[in-house]
Amino acid sequence: MKNIRLLLLAPLVLAGSVSSPLYAAEKLTYYCSAQEDWCQLMATGFEEATGIKVNMTRKSSGETLAQLKAESSNPKGDIWWGGTGDPHLQAAEEGLLAAYESPMRGEQNDWAIKQSESAGNQTIGIYSGALGYGYNEDVLTANNLPVPACWSDLLKPEYKGHVQMANPNSSGTAYTTLATIVQLFGEDEGFEFMKGLHKNINQYTKSGSAPIKAAARGENTIGIVFMHDAVKQAASGFPIKVVAPCEGTGYEIGGMSLIKDGRNPENAQKFYDWALTADVQTRALEVNAFQVMSNKGATSSPKAPDLASIKLIDYDFKKYGSSAERKRLLKKWDDEVSVLPQ
Ligand code: G6P
Repeated sequence: MKNIRLLLLAPLVLAGSVSSPLYAAEKLTYYCSAQEDWCQLMATGFEEATGIKVNMTRKSSGETLAQLKAESSNPKGDIWWGGTGDPHLQAAEEGLLAAYESPMRGEQNDWAIKQSESAGNQTIGIYSGALGYGYNEDVLTANNLPVPACWSDLLKPEYKGHVQMANPNSSGTAYTTLATIVQLFGEDEGFEFMKGLHKNINQYTKSGSAPIKAAARGENTIGIVFMHDAVKQAASGFPIKVVAPCEGTGYEIGGMSLIKDGRNPENAQKFYDWALTADVQTRALEVNAFQVMSNKGATSSPKAPDLASIKLIDYDFKKYGSSAERKRLLKKWDDEVSVLPQ
């Protein structure tokens, strides 16, 4: 009798330990568009906190938007964390995201909630940071170049081959640059600026922070990036100086969004709530991520750029994060700037 009972139970036990969906490991497919080391920290931190297995892909903001579109008939991702807010807003408008109101909303800064409300709660702000550029002091001196302080300085002929930025199609940082220049100088003058800048560009990289990493290694002189990305290199001991351009500058509200029809929606919500906590946001400092965090209780570093002391434009996220405007500006940059000889 006992043996028979054991025999009857055996398949259940086996099924439970190996293949039953009831016992399958909990998982989450996580698309990340922030710095690689921060993306990793978030993935392992969430695994440790919940036991949920995280499958992470790091791609730039524009590239992740393209991936969401490509996968929209059969979504593979559950959550998109990090990257500039504009492509998150565009994804919301294009019906690629799911609305969610986290219980953690009360702890967030107004700008984070405003970003969410402007997109029917399909995305939320998780950090903010100002655009600018950084330069390698040693390389600048070795090349006898003047110290730049303004956007307009970057057009000087002596900087030819010394400036690097990302491609605005793939990178949210570079799209923020394009939209900032258009907002600062007006569209016609802004495009003239981008054409002039193009003459000095040595390479358009895929990822937004690559130009300052190259400068840190001495392979480039000036990198147009978010100021916190330049501070990160300086904090790591590289001879990088950070510039808040004299004319004023734009900024990002980094985004987080749930992907519509993701396969693990409950785990995605868990990640979303967890990522909005003060403790988790404070952990950004472990990887020298110096953005201003959305949670009002998160600790910031004295090394972080002080947004209050930087001349910021009133960046129009609604307009520049709209699908039509983002597509139009990128096409215009492709057609009128990127094709020009250097
Ligand atoms: C870096 C910055 C982030 C920004 C991201 C955008 O990781 O630290 O603040 O959101 O770049 O990346 P992308 O490659 O799209 O420019």
